[in-house]
Amino acid sequence: MSINTIAIIGATGNQGQTVITRLLESDILKNVHIRALTRDPDSLKSKALQSRGAGRIETTEADLNDTDGLNEALAGADYVFANLNSWLDMDKEVQQGKNLIDASKKNKVKLFVWSTLPSFAALSKGKYTHVRHAENKALIQEYLRDSGLVWVGASTAFFTSNFLLPGYVSLREAESWTISLNILDAGRMLPMTWLEKDLGPFVTAIMEAYATGDSNVPYNQSVIVAGFRASHAEVAAEISKQTGKPVEIQSQHDLMPTEMSEMLETFNELGFYEGESVPSAFVQKNGIDHSTLASFVREALIPGLRARGK
Ligand SMILES: NC(=O)c1ccc[n+]([C@@H]2O[C@H](COP(=O)([O-])OP(=O)(O)OC[C@H]3O[C@@H](n4cnc5c(N)ncnc54)[C@H](OP(=O)(O)O)[C@@H]3O)[C@@H](O)[C@H]2O)c1
Repeated sequence: MSINTIAIIGATGNQGQTVITRLLESDILKNVHIRALTRDPDSLKSKALQSRGAGRIETTEADLNDTDGLNEALAGADYVFANLNSWLDMDKEVQQGKNLIDASKKNKVKLFVWSTLPSFAALSKGKYTHVRHAENKALIQEYLRDSGLVWVGASTAFFTSNFLLPGYVSLREAESWTISLNILDAGRMLPMTWLEKDLGPFVTAIMEAYATGDSNVPYNQSVIVAGFRASHAEVAAEISKQTGKPVEIQSQHDLMPTEMSEMLETFNELGFYEGESVPSAFVQKNGIDHSTLASFVREALIPGLRARGK
């Protein structure tokens, strides 16, 4: 099966970049051309992308709100990887997703892989209905299911990058470590996604499997993309183990936007992707790279916070 072009939507973003990095490392996909869609091919991030991949990456202007432009940008694309950022325009996200699916169908895209989330309203049996970034993705997912496209949903979990958000984990003088936790229970186990180590390898493996005609691909379903499960108490214990310093967890119950508080309450009451194996059966069976709690703390969290403290 010859594959020529993979279009990446959200190519300059966190998720898109991790996928591109892994695609460029793939032997199976080494002849594939990567088309990075962006609203601004002249931005610094777009220019940085063009400078990678020894001519294999081309940036193409496209806006998810512009259906004609999207159709043109996807002309000849064999595969699509898409990530939509809800926070940029929550009210438009569902229509943007539908525009993208329609344009992919029109261009006869063979495989559509996208970053998704489940409905928290469905998870909580109607109790929590305001987690819009997830509801939007679940609505797009329904549209995708009915589209006739061959698709795989990469169901992302709690991003490990959250631990590096300002104020989440603090590292003060003499390595005094504190994790500030709002609403979420310190003991609540959550699946975690380190984008670089979990999403990029997963999406690349799915595309490689399609390219080689491997039938062992979870087509037309969503698969959890997470390397490990951990509670915040376990993250604290791992930091402590690796640094030899105590880590304090400061728990509070402060007001926060309903979108976020309902998400965290759902986690507390019901967990997230409960009952699903982490990493997924597809990742385990195919020996695909994935993160672990120890590797995340050692390679990203501790150095990231120490570098910031300097
Ligand atoms: N934080 C968590 O724990 C967590 C967990 C699970 C899922 N998520 C999800 O992660 C998502 C954010 O992902 P991210 O961090 O990768 O986002 P990001 O870095 O902001 O990337 C989004 C990309 O989308 C592109 N884009 C934005 N609007 C566009 C438009 N109208 N048309 C075409 N392209 C457009 C932008 O590219 P240009 O600027 O170059 O056009 C940007 O590079 C959210 O939707 C959230 O639901 C987060």
